[in-house]
Amino acid sequence: MVRKMRDQAANLRQLVKIKENEQTAISKSNTRIITITSGKGGVGKTNLTVNLGIILQNMGYKVLIIDADLGLGNVDILLGISSRYNLSHVIFNNMNIYDVITIGPSGIMILPGGNGLLELANMESVKLDRFIRELVKLDSMADIILIDTGAGLSNNNIKMILAANEVILITTPEPTSLMDAYGVVKIVSSIERNTNFNLIMNRVEDKNEATTNIKNFQKAGKRFLDVEISKLGVVDNSYLVSKCIKAQRPFVLEYPNSKISKQLKNIANHIVGIDKQPKTTMTTYILKLFNIFKNN
Ligand SMILES: Nc1ncnc2c1ncn2[C@@H]1O[C@H](COP(=O)(O)OP(=O)(O)OP(=O)(O)O)[C@@H](O)[C@H]1O
Ligand SMILES: [Mg+2]
Repeated sequence: MVRKMRDQAANLRQLVKIKENEQTAISKSNTRIITITSGKGGVGKTNLTVNLGIILQNMGYKVLIIDADLGLGNVDILLGISSRYNLSHVIFNNMNIYDVITIGPSGIMILPGGNGLLELANMESVKLDRFIRELVKLDSMADIILIDTGAGLSNNNIKMILAANEVILITTPEPTSLMDAYGVVKIVSSIERNTNFNLIMNRVEDKNEATTNIKNFQKAGKRFLDVEISKLGVVDNSYLVSKCIKAQRPFVLEYPNSKISKQLKNIANHIVGIDKQPKTTMTTYILKLFNIFKNN
């Protein structure tokens, strides 16, 4: 009898502790959640996300990358690590979020999404409650969360962007890629006015041409959509990228002094230097995502 009471008291203390931790995570509200996306596919999202993550981690931030490509995610392949589990296992197999995260180069954390985020729409409340409790833990683990999404104007991708706090939009200098990126801004801004768009132009061959293209893109955004698009920077087209992908080693670690590494470091400095950094919590983000998936 006494033992049972002691057990109950211990359980209660445990519960209170969890609640308190949740509260601190909620009130702390200091995670930056950045969604990386593009209009056209294959423009370098995954590659830039991984390398940017490593730079930020080496600058002293705790970085978590969520591989949220609802098709075929491949953050782990780029890093030469293997992930057995993903967010679906947290939902359906009651796994702990810590057991699904793998550690990559420089200590960055990788969380494979699988189809886990798509499940949000169909989750019954008990499962959802538990899922959110697991996701809340991420707030205290990471300073910056980078979400690598799929490409394009598909319904699911647009929903991921609508839920985003901050968006990095990646394009190449090709007109098709620029047009599709513009399409993303157009659709998203017609539904959600407050989305914060930041542009990176990747695979640049001609700096002047890229600068002109970016200026025109910003002007079109302002003039026709009344949207401010910030420029984060450019990354050159370089043979080092595919060389490093083949070796499954991030270029910023293999060739830290190369021009593309320096360009990406400038972009990272720009990201952390933004005056009023938009911050949020995983709980807020996931509830927003849940509502968007649920209502459309
Ligand atoms: N700066 C660059 N220089 C040269 N090649 C590049 C550069 N960036 C990306 N690439 C090439 O583009 C390919 C696609 O890159 P990545 O997989 O990162 O694109 P993605 O946008 O994530 O694609 P998806 O839309 O399929 O998810 C890479 O395999 C690489 O060969
Ligand atoms: Mg990708």
